[in-house]
Amino acid sequence: MSVPHRAPAELLNSRRSPLLVFAGQSNRPLAQAICDHLGVPLGRSKTEKFTNDNIIVHYEESLREGDVFIVQTFSNPVSDSIMELMLMIDAAKSASAGRVTAVIPYYSYARSDKKDSPRISIAGRLIADLLQEAGADRILTMTLHAPQVHGFFKVPVDHLSADLVLSEHFRQCVPDAHNGVVLAPDAGSIKRASQIARRLDSGLAMIDKERLSDTEVRPRALIGDVDGKTVFIVDDEISTAGSLVETVNIARSMGAKDVYVAVTHGVYSGPAIQRIAGLDVTQVASTNTVLVPDSKVEASNGKLAVLDVAPLFANAITNIHTGASVSTLFT
Ligand code: R5P
Repeated sequence: MSVPHRAPAELLNSRRSPLLVFAGQSNRPLAQAICDHLGVPLGRSKTEKFTNDNIIVHYEESLREGDVFIVQTFSNPVSDSIMELMLMIDAAKSASAGRVTAVIPYYSYARSDKKDSPRISIAGRLIADLLQEAGADRILTMTLHAPQVHGFFKVPVDHLSADLVLSEHFRQCVPDAHNGVVLAPDAGSIKRASQIARRLDSGLAMIDKERLSDTEVRPRALIGDVDGKTVFIVDDEISTAGSLVETVNIARSMGAKDVYVAVTHGVYSGPAIQRIAGLDVTQVASTNTVLVPDSKVEASNGKLAVLDVAPLFANAITNIHTGASVSTLFT
């Protein structure tokens, strides 16, 4: 019997890898929202912890030749979240997935991106090595602490930005946002602040700050003019809210009228919620890259708001799956 030299086009097309989306435990509501936008069911998988603290993950459907996306954000408990993702990637590869993309809305270890004191680990790079060793073929993430963290990966990284979502939010809250000032809490956030200021057609200011410890920062000066203006503070994340408190205080002392805050990642660790509840701001918004429990929203004295980035992730997944450009999503 003769074997056809080349498979007919219909046969090749029919073999295109099915799109499969799974999620770890860290932010299943975001994963479900992404699936709702994509119009696909969230894949069935199970994660269990043994009494000795070992984690086991188990897919409950076939992944063979699938184009698999695993959604897992690095939020509390961060080490468990990372370990679960490693195991999910490894199990997907063992189950003959065609391609595995780790969808990491918040890559927390991006803050460990340099050797800024002796005898420490550049953990952002180490986690990147481990993800690739586990078998990740691609990474999809959002607002890395510093864009160059992208370079820790040898596999392709699609790095989404929440800037459009944050600036549209400001515009909805303050229709004459163009009369306001976008304030960068430190030198590291000036580029992001300047892009948002350009979108709002507003002014720009910056704080020169010094970090004293994990929970304390000291502002040295505010560069720019916020007197009598509505101020929009933007940052990559709020963790303990130490930076935020100092930024708001200095803006107020320089005559800021109203203060709105929007960041990509609302981690709200340690004293953050208590600090925000007592802060002289109209609102603090963050996206749903990290799950913000209702209890935190309630304890914030009505200050916290959550913005949805699921459509952005869904569009990025569609484009990656179909081989279309992802950069078109930024404009
Ligand atoms: C600092 O470089 C970052 O951009 C954030 O300002 C910082 O991670 C926020 O941390 P915290 O809320 O603990 O001050």
